[in-house]
Amino acid sequence: MARKILVTSALPYANGSIHLGHLVEYIQTDIWVRFQKMQGHELHYVCADDTHGTPIMLRAEKEGITPESLIEGVHKEHSADFAEFLVGFDNYYSTNSDENKTLSQNIYRALKANGKIATKTIEQFYDPVKNMFLPDRFIKGECPKCHAKDQYGDSCEVCGATYNPTELIDAYSAVSGATPVRKETEHHFFKLSDCEAFLKEWTRSGTLQGEAANKMGEWFENGLNDWDISRDAPYFGFEIPDAPGKYFYVWLDAPIGYMASFKNLCDKNGLDFDEYWKAGSDTELYHFIGKDILYFHALFWPATLEYSGYRTPTQVFAHGFLTVNGEKMSKSRGTFITARSYLDHIKNPEYLRYYYAAKLNSTMEDIDLNLEDFVARVNSDLVGKYINIASRTAGFINKRFDGKLNPSADNAVVAELKSAAADIAKAYVARDYGKALREIMRLSDLANGFVAEKAPWVMAKQEGQDAELQQVCSDALEMFRLLTLYLKPVLPKLAVEIEAFLNIAPMQWHSVEASLSAQHAINQYNHLITRIDPKAIEAMVDSNKANLQSTEAPVKADAVKTKVPQEQAAGDYIQIDDFTKVDLRIAKIVNAEHVEGADKLLKLTLDIGEENTRQVFAGIKSAYDPETLKGRLTVMVANLAPRKMKFGMSEGMVLAASDESGGPFILSPDSGAQAGMKVK
Ligand code: 2FM
Ligand code: ZN
Repeated sequence: MARKILVTSALPYANGSIHLGHLVEYIQTDIWVRFQKMQGHELHYVCADDTHGTPIMLRAEKEGITPESLIEGVHKEHSADFAEFLVGFDNYYSTNSDENKTLSQNIYRALKANGKIATKTIEQFYDPVKNMFLPDRFIKGECPKCHAKDQYGDSCEVCGATYNPTELIDAYSAVSGATPVRKETEHHFFKLSDCEAFLKEWTRSGTLQGEAANKMGEWFENGLNDWDISRDAPYFGFEIPDAPGKYFYVWLDAPIGYMASFKNLCDKNGLDFDEYWKAGSDTELYHFIGKDILYFHALFWPATLEYSGYRTPTQVFAHGFLTVNGEKMSKSRGTFITARSYLDHIKNPEYLRYYYAAKLNSTMEDIDLNLEDFVARVNSDLVGKYINIASRTAGFINKRFDGKLNPSADNAVVAELKSAAADIAKAYVARDYGKALREIMRLSDLANGFVAEKAPWVMAKQEGQDAELQQVCSDALEMFRLLTLYLKPVLPKLAVEIEAFLNIAPMQWHSVEASLSAQHAINQYNHLITRIDPKAIEAMVDSNKANLQSTEAPVKADAVKTKVPQEQAAGDYIQIDDFTKVDLRIAKIVNAEHVEGADKLLKLTLDIGEENTRQVFAGIKSAYDPETLKGRLTVMVANLAPRKMKFGMSEGMVLAASDESGGPFILSPDSGAQAGMKVK
């Protein structure tokens, strides 16, 4: 019976590019979706960009554009990446949509009416320069445990300790560099602790993988905390009804984005939204996610749905992380590879789909992309085994038999291939794609064994063997058809090309029962895929390293002094246009502090008007006590490209004079000048 199924993949953040780590999930989901669609089920696969939150707001500000225009550009980029990797969403939407706003606000109202929302005044870190509350990730400082500098407010990347931002030593705002202050604010909470009985029941009812259910057990033991679902302005997101200046935390409206994307699809295609989402629905709902966001999908999300009148997910499927060559993806090793960079160098997305599928199973274990193994596996399985079956037989049918087939009625290898359909289907359903592909490759070996044994290239040279030659090649092509069908969820584009070559209608899973018939005419066989050249891999890795060098080259840490030349050589003059390219501004030093471990630098926080602040590392420590600088006006180069230094980003340059006789002396404007004024 055709089932009605709704499938989602996690919504990628709209502040970065899709990379090979993301693609594990989209490829995993897409294979499952394509397999289920081949079974004839009515399935809708939806996703969207996750667009809200502080990082997106600040990135847009930094780029000098609105968040709306930032997310519009990213939406185009993400959509193109997914399409080229053959991820077949039925709808790819955005969480910043009218549908999502309405659904989020209505769900919030329902939760409130159900007594599941509480308000509480809490104390949070506040950036007094930027006038905003700071998320933990935007507070940095010294790790309280190992004393590493510039660690985030929630965890230390050096020793792995987790802590509260209050425990950081010499905390500073990563937005402005200012020292954060504590400030009270009223927040809205979802009373998760009230939902414990429901969640215990839900998590034990077959909705989660074994490992995930165990993790839940630990969380229940530690006790469930109420969930803070509000954030203060300024925030890019949806305002909370009847709470001006308060916004939904991005993680409240992100999963509702699954519903919103589907709602948008319903409106376009005349589907019934309620049939899939209302409490008691007998349709199926599956979420594919990474193991890092299990907490959100196995606790907050089902509880949100349950207490706002909606159905809960049928199952949540969590997968592990991607490593490349056995290690975390790394920018310095060139293994932090974007989807686009892969396409530019390797071109064929189906190689990666195949390799990931070969590595995937239903557990939350990490999977490794070993680049050498990737080349070897694709070349040997896809080119050496699978495609080889057609490339060794199709030419004879085309040239000697006018494209006409004449298969035998009872080829034992064909029969064995057909009988494997149920096991392969079972492995796909269970997301054990590795198992499915091992079986498909075993069958490819059988098919190749058949071709090798019959040796059609020998028959072709002998008199009177035409009928057998035609039959052997026809049988081999029937085997090739079956293997193509089995691989179709993984290699959908190649399958379409092969369907065109075999001159057959798009295959569904039940096409296993059909056969290529006598007199059926195939089309001309053209070369289908080529081997991966290991040089393309090298070039890809190198180019990712190269990208990094051009944008992140470390800069000498004290490069802030402006030397005053003794004499201007003729020919060294610049034109007025060159000078006007330099954006010189009056800047107010709102904060100045020592930088631990740096002998020449002070860290300055500069206000250049209109709430625009910059962090600059200036080599003036020898001449100034930071306390005496606070509140002073100076001159800065405001449009110098930000440079990553050992101690953090430097976003400009302060002008100072120096020569052998002394300095540095920072420049000051005359009285009356104000922060933000242009220096011309
Ligand atoms: O972790 C992430 O990348 C989130 N953007 C996933 C959101 S999934 C969903 F709940 F919206
Ligand atoms: Zn540490």
